[in-house]
Amino acid sequence: MKVCVVGSGGREHALALALGRSADVVVTPGNPGMPAVTSEGWQITVTDAPPEAVDADLVVVGPEQPLVDGLADRLRAMDRLVFGPGVDGALLEGSKGFMKDLLAEACVPTARYGTFDTLVEATAFLRELPGPWVVKTDGLAGGKGVLVTDSIGEAEADIAAKLSGSSFGDAGRKVVVEEALAGPECSLLALCDGKRVVPLAPAQDFKRVADGDDGPNTGGMGAYSPVPVADERLVDRMLDEAVEPLLGVLRRRGIDYRGVLYAGLILTDDGPKVLEYNVRFGDPETQVVLPRLDEDLTGLLAEAATGRLRTEPRWRRDACVCVVLASEGYPISSRTGELIEGLEAAGDHEGVTVLHAGTRLDDEGRIVTAGGRVIDVSALAPSIHEARERAYLAIRDVSWPGMHYRTDIAAAAASTSAPTVANSSMRFEQARPFS
Ligand code: AMP
Ligand code: GLY
Repeated sequence: MKVCVVGSGGREHALALALGRSADVVVTPGNPGMPAVTSEGWQITVTDAPPEAVDADLVVVGPEQPLVDGLADRLRAMDRLVFGPGVDGALLEGSKGFMKDLLAEACVPTARYGTFDTLVEATAFLRELPGPWVVKTDGLAGGKGVLVTDSIGEAEADIAAKLSGSSFGDAGRKVVVEEALAGPECSLLALCDGKRVVPLAPAQDFKRVADGDDGPNTGGMGAYSPVPVADERLVDRMLDEAVEPLLGVLRRRGIDYRGVLYAGLILTDDGPKVLEYNVRFGDPETQVVLPRLDEDLTGLLAEAATGRLRTEPRWRRDACVCVVLASEGYPISSRTGELIEGLEAAGDHEGVTVLHAGTRLDDEGRIVTAGGRVIDVSALAPSIHEARERAYLAIRDVSWPGMHYRTDIAAAAASTSAPTVANSSMRFEQARPFS
């Protein structure tokens, strides 16, 4: 079996390692941290060839942009087996306005919102909301197009900048304005084969750049799994209220959705509400969910891609914590080309895996920074507390000028008294059909 993974970040590195437990993996375009022979003896390689030119039994598309651009449709037209939705399903992430309309149709609980392309209407709606306020680009913005603010002046200025195209180009020419919700967040990723859905273990992501959830939103600065507040009962509720109804609506619209449906939820006092859907694996959630999977990922994704999902994923009891190391200036800008030191030493720590997210080789063949999110240090251990200790200890070995990271990833969860095995034993008799 040979699997092609499309993408070049930490999520794709984690996918390659998990798929590489049972298949040869070729990643396009990949990054220099990926090539390896796995402990099970499979090869992970990278190639510059486009996905259409890679000979593989299964193609797994990592990022949203190629899905929104129709890569899965093009590959299916070539009779390739693909894990990832077509353009029709990917619009769920490609347009937040479309996503919100589907949510309303599926009666999925979400924040009160409106979608606008004129300043007058957007600000009039904004003023009707009690605040705090949220302003989002309609189009893709790498996780950075969302402003949550207590200041109505800041929200108004942000709407103006987005609509004028000055802050996010065409992605911001339409905006979603909504009420801010409060509560812990939870990412629930589910595998879908067009007819059935199985949840993966929940994870929690840290979106803001700085400790204490301060500073601007990023693509994600760290994550952990399991999530003590999201027990089996809550996962069931999230599936019933936030995943299955939406898939039902997609199906009624004739959309054969085969891939990951990622529900970003906020656990409010009134129950879970959906902040967003993504149409692919989360980054960095994948880096903490897949190491906990005690199942053949290649088989699972191939089942979903062929429309025959029937395996119940099993989970290790271990917890996993991932901390993202970022370049100076991220998420506003990022200084690249810096020499990275200590990666090998970090990877030698017990339970630790060093994933490359934004790296390249310089002229002398050394690993240098090549993006905002550069390295993910992911650690498995019997508890969240120990996993976080392992990750932060390993990080001490890594350095480059301007490197920064959050020091509070999973800190609150590590100090809860809830059993850390919560939802690690989640089992389903069979993948659930949905209507
Ligand atoms: P999104 O891309 O829509 O998931 O938004 C990114 C992040 O912004 C979320 O993970 C939340 O942290 C925050 N956010 C988005 N919408 C809301 C909301 N309605 N209330 C509070 N926070 C929000
Ligand atoms: N971690 C957030 C995302 O993948 O969109």
